[in-house]
Amino acid sequence: MPSVFIKTYGCQMNERDSEAVAAQLVAKGYTLAKSEASADVVLLNTCSVRDLAEQKAINKMKNLVGTARSEKRDQIVGFMGCMAQSRGQELIDKLPDVDLVLGTQKFHRAAEYLDELLAGTRKKIVDTATEAKSEATIREHLLNGSAKTSVSAFVSIMQGCNQHCTFCIVPATRGEERSRTIPDIVAECRELVARGVREITLLGQIVTSFGKRDYPLLDGKSAFVQLLDAVHAIEGLERIRFTSPHPKGYGDDLVAAYARLPKLCESAHIPLQSGSDRLLKLMHRGYTREKFLGIIQKLRQAKPNIGIYTDIIVGFPGETEEDFEQTLSLCREVQFDNAYIFKYSPRRDTPAAMMPDQVPLAIREERNERLLNLVNEIAARKYDAFIGRQVEILVEGPSKKNAARYTGRTRCNRIVLFDGSARHQGQLMDVKIERTGSFTLYGDPAVVNL
Ligand code: 5AD
Repeated sequence: MPSVFIKTYGCQMNERDSEAVAAQLVAKGYTLAKSEASADVVLLNTCSVRDLAEQKAINKMKNLVGTARSEKRDQIVGFMGCMAQSRGQELIDKLPDVDLVLGTQKFHRAAEYLDELLAGTRKKIVDTATEAKSEATIREHLLNGSAKTSVSAFVSIMQGCNQHCTFCIVPATRGEERSRTIPDIVAECRELVARGVREITLLGQIVTSFGKRDYPLLDGKSAFVQLLDAVHAIEGLERIRFTSPHPKGYGDDLVAAYARLPKLCESAHIPLQSGSDRLLKLMHRGYTREKFLGIIQKLRQAKPNIGIYTDIIVGFPGETEEDFEQTLSLCREVQFDNAYIFKYSPRRDTPAAMMPDQVPLAIREERNERLLNLVNEIAARKYDAFIGRQVEILVEGPSKKNAARYTGRTRCNRIVLFDGSARHQGQLMDVKIERTGSFTLYGDPAVVNL
């Protein structure tokens, strides 16, 4: 049977989509190749959020087809996911060796299209059409392959985003918000738990908008909180996480859920983007600095040890030194556990790309550096504060770099390494943190729950 290799760029949703496509192909008899070179089919699952991510995938494809041609190998190659969706046929016009361009609503057709390409009945396939109900078309999981996924799994709950932030290409790559039903999601989670999964991360581009149109408020609870309740009730599931939310989704019902639901891990990745109200407005984010600070305060009241992570864009069009300083001061005020900083990258057909006062690259770089220094300094202090503390971790498996070490995550989503063995895998256990490395905690098993 043909073998396939999938390389993934970008977010956790992309990882989940790749996993689902791999599972679908395996179910149809394909095997998973160990390397690109040995595969009959190579698919690149792409990201469009910044230009750099697109360029990486395009360069990778150039290398792939160049190598295949020089070694006289017949290989089917394709792009799938976000860049496939937003660029479509243009990708084949640019790179004529590409055989398949599979959009974000068509993952479930991967096997059918590859069969046709391998059989030679079709030469090139581009499918980026929209498809009703595509959010519920893929639910296959591959759990046996990797140790990590058998403990912790991603479940996609919705697709698309209607927020239309002016910098963001996602509405064009993922389409309008569409949510799965609560029973459908719960059934998938139950199945995963029956197969040994103990932690589930609910995924979507804007998970806090889950099911808005389909589920009215119930006892003051939004559809998303109703879903959290339903998933929480699954016996055998130990931990629930979700990503990505929007700050506007942190109503009192969601804040209360953190206090009410013991399985909901005290960790939140809440994208800030900017600390300047003027920029937040230009970005069409729908909240102010005060509102954001209020959310953080409420969350910390509910769960003092909550890990708070964020995304920030520097150099959005029109960003002045004063605007940027507002971001710096907000970071000092919030003390994020960590922040992912992005230099603004103009995306085609987004309103911000057409805005006046684009910020020169040198200034974007300089601000990136300054913010990174601040964020890292705060993050390091927060890591050091763990030394001597006992924390609960869920053990995912051997560390990739050193097989004698095992890796787990705290409830607040920090990676902990410790000297472990196979018997620890999948266990919830307490470890005492002894020292810190760069974005890692090193622990000693204090009480092992076997
Ligand atoms: N330029 C830079 N960063 C961006 N992001 C989204 N769009 C852009 C863009 N055009 C960042 C945001 C988002 C994260 C996933 O990527 O911070 O939260």
